[in-house]
Amino acid sequence: MTKRLMFVFGTRPEAIKMAPLVKACEAHEAFDPVVVVTAQHREMLDQVLALFQIQPNYDLNIMKPGQSLTDITCAVIRGLEGVIGEVQPDMVLVHGDTTTTFAGALAAYYQGVPVAHVEAGLRSGNMYAPFPEEGNRRLTAVLSAVHLAPTAGARHALLAEGVVEDQVYTTGNTVIDALNTTLDRPYNFPDGPVKKALARPGRKLLLTAHRRENLGEPMHRIFAALVRLLDDFPDTTLFFPMHKNPKVRAVVEEVLGGHDRVVFMEPLDYQPFVHLMNQMDLILTDSGGLQEEAPSLGKPVLVLRDTTERPEAVEAGTVRLVGTHEGPIYVAAAELLTDPAAYAAMKQAVNPYGDGAACDRILQALGHHFGLNDRPAPWA
Ligand code: UD1
Ligand code: UDP
Repeated sequence: MTKRLMFVFGTRPEAIKMAPLVKACEAHEAFDPVVVVTAQHREMLDQVLALFQIQPNYDLNIMKPGQSLTDITCAVIRGLEGVIGEVQPDMVLVHGDTTTTFAGALAAYYQGVPVAHVEAGLRSGNMYAPFPEEGNRRLTAVLSAVHLAPTAGARHALLAEGVVEDQVYTTGNTVIDALNTTLDRPYNFPDGPVKKALARPGRKLLLTAHRRENLGEPMHRIFAALVRLLDDFPDTTLFFPMHKNPKVRAVVEEVLGGHDRVVFMEPLDYQPFVHLMNQMDLILTDSGGLQEEAPSLGKPVLVLRDTTERPEAVEAGTVRLVGTHEGPIYVAAAELLTDPAAYAAMKQAVNPYGDGAACDRILQALGHHFGLNDRPAPWA
């Protein structure tokens, strides 16, 4: 009897990290995948579904402009009630730390369906940074029967909270599976401003910013630091794919709007985005996923946050936390743009997050949970 695995996800990063797992599951004889998207994101989710050729079995289509955390939580729980009741899955898989993740786990728990949490165990130690992601991860852990920890550090965090050792598997992060397969597919930028800017000599900086706790004043300060950098280093160009959140766009318009060495872009499809990252000299971001991908590409990353739940690349030296104040961001970036030794020290390819085989390990872990095979050897 095949086991029916219901994948629930709703935002861009969840989709990128679940996509290779859905594909591996489709090809696995013991499992039968059912894909449910909440569409907490719409366009940014659909971009990923198209790239990985995933046709959801159910689409809750919940996104609303200006949605609150309560809106998302209620819509996901209500929407999933009927779907889980109809599909009767053997397990619900959720990913990471979004509100879809937590609400998906809660909906499954309410119906007595065991939950597997992919990318479990990341902790910043601060319930308000990142907010609400730290809370979402902790709440999801309580509701989960299987914890798929990407790193040994994440496993230790779960054990320290009292999670039963037998329920935790160390698998690597599926984002490296997604990154590797996407890098293998060449991409040529079409004629236009991005291609033109990539061809220009000089240093290339990439910016992404969207965290809820950075909206407003912190984002203001982040963008102000970038304006100073662009003005003081005339050979630099800033590439900025903007998140769809209108609250991000408002600050962009106010501080960065019209700067002639900023290439403003709509969110890029994952394939061009990966190839863009690969051509950058320096990355500034508050994203979680970029902290995992960029080190693997050997790109120095300045993280626009005070805490991180991804300490491994910081320990390896490729990632540095610089906070959200203009001065420290400017100083850290300026040092990398002027001091070749400081730059070389950060520009090293490290792979603390995975080896590209996380999906295989996760399916083996689920097989072990269902008594179908031996426990897989842990990654790292
Ligand atoms: C969400 C997650 C965050 C994750 C991020 C990835 C929560 C609470 N937040 O934050 O953990 O890091 O996604 O990007 O789960 N919008 C669009 N089209 C889209 C996507 C968003 O128009 O495709 C706009 C909508 O107006 C929406 C707003 O952005 O209301 C905010 O989206 P939301 O998912 O609530 O928050 P994010 O900041 O995207
Ligand atoms: N990404 C993308 N297009 C973009 C910007 C980012 O495909 O224009 C990818 C990026 O490679 C990473 C993921 O989106 O895999 C990160 O998503 P985001 O920053 O929205 O969320 P977070 O990782 O912070 O939860």
